[in-house]
Amino acid sequence: MTQIALVTGSNKGIGHETARLLGERGYTVLAAARDSSRGTAAADALGATFVQLDVTDDESIRGAAARVAAEHDHLDVLINNAGLIGDHEEARGRPSGTSREALRQVFETNVFGAVAVTNAFLPLLRKAPSPRIVNVSSEVGSITTISDPENPLYQLVGIPYPASKTALNMVTAMYAKELTEVDVFAANPGYCATDLNGHSGFRTPAQGAAVIVALATGEASAPSGRLWGDLSLLGTPGDGVIPW
Ligand SMILES: NC(=O)c1ccc[n+]([C@@H]2O[C@H](COP(=O)([O-])OP(=O)(O)OC[C@H]3O[C@@H](n4cnc5c(N)ncnc54)[C@H](OP(=O)(O)O)[C@@H]3O)[C@@H](O)[C@H]2O)c1
Repeated sequence: MTQIALVTGSNKGIGHETARLLGERGYTVLAAARDSSRGTAAADALGATFVQLDVTDDESIRGAAARVAAEHDHLDVLINNAGLIGDHEEARGRPSGTSREALRQVFETNVFGAVAVTNAFLPLLRKAPSPRIVNVSSEVGSITTISDPENPLYQLVGIPYPASKTALNMVTAMYAKELTEVDVFAANPGYCATDLNGHSGFRTPAQGAAVIVALATGEASAPSGRLWGDLSLLGTPGDGVIPW
C-alpha cells in the first residue's frame, strides 16, 4: 500500500524539503500551504498534490480534511510543520515588552494550528496501519536547554516563539499518551537557514527535513511522545532525544 503523507507549510523552507524527501522515498505527498498560487507552484515542482490549508482558519482545515478524505481512504503521516516567529519586533524582544497580540499571533499558528489540524485529520490517520504525527518543534522550546547558561541559546529572551514550541512539546506529550495507536513526535530540525530566521541558520533546510523524515518513516529509533532531533546546539553531533 502506498504511504500517504501530508505536510503543512510545504511551499518553502524545511516543509518543502520534507515534502521532497518523502516523495523521493515513494510517498504520495499532499503538499499543503495557505497560499494557493505559491502552494501550487511549489507542489508542482515536486510532483506532489497541492492542498490549500491555512492552519489558523478552521474552515480551511475542514475543507482540506474533507478533500483528503474524499480522495484517500487513510493518511499514514501528518507533519505539522507550518510555523512562524512573529512579525512583531517584540516577539524577539524582552518579556517585559511582550504584548498579548504578539503572543496570540505566534500561538495561533504554532500551537492552536497544530492541534486543530491534528484533530481534523485524526479520523483518517486512525485508518492507517501505523500512523505517525510529527510536530515540527525546536530546541528553543526546551526549558532545560534555554535555562542553561553554558548553552548558546541562553541569550534568547523573547517569549512568543520559544514559549510556543514549549507548548507544542506539551501538546506532543499529551497526544502520545492519549493516542496509543499513533506515534507522535516533536522534531528538532536544528538551526536551519530559512526565511524564518533571515537565513542565519548553519544547517540547510534539507538537513532539518532529514530529521522530520526519519521520524515520519520510522527510520529514527525515537520514542513516541518526546522531542527528538539535531543535538548540535547541545554540543553533541548527530540526533537524539532532547530534554524538555
Ligand atoms: N529554521 C529553523 O532554524 C527552525 C528551527 C527549528 C524549528 N523550525 C520550525 O520549522 C518549521 C518550518 O519553518 P522554516 O524554518 O522552514 O520557515 P519558513 O521558510 O518561514 O517556512 C514556514 C512555512 O510555514 C508556513 N505557514 C506560516 N503560517 C501558516 C499558516 N497560517 N498556515 C499554513 N502555513 C503557514 C509558511 O507559509 P507562507 O509562505 O505562506 O508564509 C511557510 O510555508 C516551523 O514550524 C519552524 O518553527 C525551524
